[in-house]
Amino acid sequence: MFSLPKAVVGTTQFWYGTNPDLFETMLFAVQEGGINLIDTAEMYGDGRCEEAVGELIRTVGRNSLCITDKILPEHANSRDFFASLDRSLTLLGTDYIDLYLLHWREDADLAEMCSLMEEARTAGKIREWGVSNFDTADMEDLLSVKYGENCRVNQIFYNPLHRGIEFDLMPWQKEKDIRLMSYSTLDRKAARSTLLEKEEIRSILETEHIPVEALMLAFNIHHDVCALFQTKSVTHLKDNLKGLTFDISPYMEIIDRACPPPSAKVPMEKR
Ligand SMILES: NC(=O)c1ccc[n+]([C@@H]2O[C@H](COP(=O)([O-])OP(=O)(O)OC[C@H]3O[C@@H](n4cnc5c(N)ncnc54)[C@H](OP(=O)(O)O)[C@@H]3O)[C@@H](O)[C@H]2O)c1
Repeated sequence: MFSLPKAVVGTTQFWYGTNPDLFETMLFAVQEGGINLIDTAEMYGDGRCEEAVGELIRTVGRNSLCITDKILPEHANSRDFFASLDRSLTLLGTDYIDLYLLHWREDADLAEMCSLMEEARTAGKIREWGVSNFDTADMEDLLSVKYGENCRVNQIFYNPLHRGIEFDLMPWQKEKDIRLMSYSTLDRKAARSTLLEKEEIRSILETEHIPVEALMLAFNIHHDVCALFQTKSVTHLKDNLKGLTFDISPYMEIIDRACPPPSAKVPMEKR
């Protein structure tokens, strides 16, 4: 199985004009917080996030970091793929990406995309590749084309309030040894408030002295999902990292009652 850390830090807001504190937070995450995987995409800030990740790489050293980057579906074709990948590599200031994902399916030709991913892997420009926002039927289509079985990761929306993938996608991917990485793990403020309205959840947080964000990360990690989150605050980051060591298993029955798993197929939810 492809090895992933428990948690990944994301970068949709990671450029300085808008959030001057973010660079310090990202630096703290890597140098003090034990984070060694950063998620970005060509779409985020139209390359400005990749540029900021590039500065982070130059500051901490390439060997301290692994990078996940994402290509848009409209670029995942033989005309645009390598121009897109090369632009990302230039902005990142590196000669390889550790994990390269198709951002979403749309009308990408899966056979062509797989073949290009393999070509990039052979050329040493990416180490591994995967997809994002693929539901079970999309994954079945992917594995029906040549090289599809080399997909390592599917990055999807998942947290205690959105457990739909547990019904079919999660067991299906486990069987095929394809890892799940969750985005928007901390969801929106409103979702966190919904969790905090539940007395059972509040009582766990009080007993364990952890914030709801740490519980959300621990929940995903417990389900063998690599938890991708984002924060611009070092204080929030430290709180969130508590979720990486918190043993949630004794509380899973209570959580299942408060946030029940799905009993039928739920079409893939997205953010
Ligand atoms: N593949 C895809 O289609 C896709 C889609 C969306 C996102 N992503 C990736 O996933 C990453 C994370 O997703 P997301 O951006 O939706 O974010 P998220 O991690 O679910 O939530 C981020 C929000 O939570 C807040 N937060 C974090 N820790 C907190 C804490 N301890 N206390 C209070 N608030 C806290 C942040 O505010 P503060 O900054 O104030 O802490 C921010 O508003 C993105 O950066 C991106 O890399 C991928």
